[in-house]
Amino acid sequence: MASPLPMPWPVPRLIEHKRDGGEHSRAEIETLVQGFTRGDLPDYQVSAWLMAVFLRGMTPRETADLTLAMAASGDQLDLGGLQRTVDKHSTGGVGDKTSLILTPMLAALGLTVAKMSGRGLAHTGGTIDKLESIPGWTPELSEERFLAQAAEIGLALVGQSRDLAPADGKLYALRDVTATVDSLPLIASSIMSKKLASGAHTVVLDVKVGAGAFMRTAADGEALARAMVDIGTHAGRQVRAVLTEMDTPLGHLAGNSLEVLEALSTLRGEGPADLHELCVALAVEALVAHGEAEDAARTRAEAALRDGSALAKFRAFVGAQGGDPTYVDQPEKFDVAPGRAEVTAPAAGFVSAVDALGVGRAVLALGGGRERKGEAIDHGVGVELLKKPGEAVVAGEPVLRVYHRSGRGLDAALELLRAGLSIGAEPVAPAPLILGRVH
Ligand code: URA
Repeated sequence: MASPLPMPWPVPRLIEHKRDGGEHSRAEIETLVQGFTRGDLPDYQVSAWLMAVFLRGMTPRETADLTLAMAASGDQLDLGGLQRTVDKHSTGGVGDKTSLILTPMLAALGLTVAKMSGRGLAHTGGTIDKLESIPGWTPELSEERFLAQAAEIGLALVGQSRDLAPADGKLYALRDVTATVDSLPLIASSIMSKKLASGAHTVVLDVKVGAGAFMRTAADGEALARAMVDIGTHAGRQVRAVLTEMDTPLGHLAGNSLEVLEALSTLRGEGPADLHELCVALAVEALVAHGEAEDAARTRAEAALRDGSALAKFRAFVGAQGGDPTYVDQPEKFDVAPGRAEVTAPAAGFVSAVDALGVGRAVLALGGGRERKGEAIDHGVGVELLKKPGEAVVAGEPVLRVYHRSGRGLDAALELLRAGLSIGAEPVAPAPLILGRVH
């Protein structure tokens, strides 16, 4: 290992400065990020600094400087050869298969999506895991092929590269074990450093709010969205955020293969209303960021789900990345776990809540997600919401269906689902899906 470069400031002074509520200069932040990425700073000092940031926060200028330093800590993709580039990010939810629908829609609408996507961790799913339900589909493309495919069909998705914003990977690993994940400047800089390094002109953010999300309240979600939009603007990008409800899972299905199936029906114009609405709303944001009028953008986005053009892009994309395209038109080919169990309504009434976190944890218990990076998952298991909040039920009627493999994790999943299901005597109006927008 190279010998450590001299630090212009003693690190304990930097920690002390933040601990006492001080504001870092850009040079101080760059020193910390570069030193840590190079391996010159020990984990214990960076952990102490992270806790000081967690407790004292950062100004918008500091957050932007932190993000830029993290984005510059490794490779940065040059998408300059592609037209009208757009990236999308969701802060993570349950049943959130939006990227599977939105990205081919955007390609069909004339934008270019050359995107890195993640795998699922804990109770939230990941786009790469979902797409791997299609035999042969691979997230591994050389940079050359990735860019050529994006130019040719308007859509290429690869796994997160470790060479991109490596400072984020190292900082996230420390945050995870030092109770410093839940910090607005640290979350905003983590997400946006990867988006900036990924190179797209426009970034559309879906900031989830509610029981199944990082941000529990609309005020917190809005603050996170504002921080990310400001960072992007500071870096010369177009960033638009939509705040969306995540108390209840999105759509009706959670679990990898099941979510691809629901995405395919949405691409055929036959998806659940909430999922359809969200995909159209995010597509409109992307088109508006590229200069289109909102009403015209909405009409075009709706048409892409009705006329088969988004579905055709998805089929081309699956084939280009090695997947069996016949799965797109023959849903019966997907490996859905054969075991079935149901949670029924204990009494007549109206569904008032189906806790997203409980559903996410149930999928995890069934083997459909991973607690640790690298674990194998079962793509075929999952949960179906037969009823959603606001719907009437009679006593004994099935409300949730579990798809399990040989009973693995079934008891735990049923317990989580029962605990998260609320049935009330009075009808409840379902919460609006779109809670706000931040530009
Ligand atoms: N997602 C990220 O990429 N980083 C965070 O800190 C939180 C969510």
